[in-house]
Amino acid sequence: MTRYSSIILSVTLVLTSFVSLAAFAVNAQPTTKPARDGQAVYGRYCAACHGRGMRGAPKLTDASAWAPRLEQDKATLYAHSIQGIGWMPTRGGCSTCTDEEIKAAVDYLLTIVARPTPVPAEPIRAPQ
Ligand code: HEC
Repeated sequence: MTRYSSIILSVTLVLTSFVSLAAFAVNAQPTTKPARDGQAVYGRYCAACHGRGMRGAPKLTDASAWAPRLEQDKATLYAHSIQGIGWMPTRGGCSTCTDEEIKAAVDYLLTIVARPTPVPAEPIRAPQ
């Protein structure tokens, strides 16, 4: 290797490390990560309990278990989900979830549990 080429090589190495350092510095900037959508958060964190009705968790598909809870307003459901309630841990165990992500998960949950129930058919009456 000539003296000249080794100088070129060192300059290149120095430049490359500057570039990667700069890239590192850019990556290290706090970035606002895109929010996970409600269904994704539900699937990853909430379904473990609400899918099966674990530890008394109202099961997603069990309308009667949800009925008394749905009488509360949405703000209460959000607050309970963020703070935790009974056996349910704070944020349903998703410590990295933002309030918005937990609310989105509650909204997703509500689209399933709060589906309007079909209007019951006219009750059969005993002949008079
Ligand atoms: C470790 C199990 C567990 C996980 C994980 C969990 N929950 Fe729960 N959840 C429960 C239990 C148990 C209850 C019933 C608590 C009670 O009323 O005593 C509950 C209740 C709720 C309620 C009703 C609250 C009320 O005011 O009646 C909502 C809404 C809810 N969970 C949403 C979520 C969401 C959203 C997630 C995911 C981010 C989640 N849960 C994750 C166990 C869990």
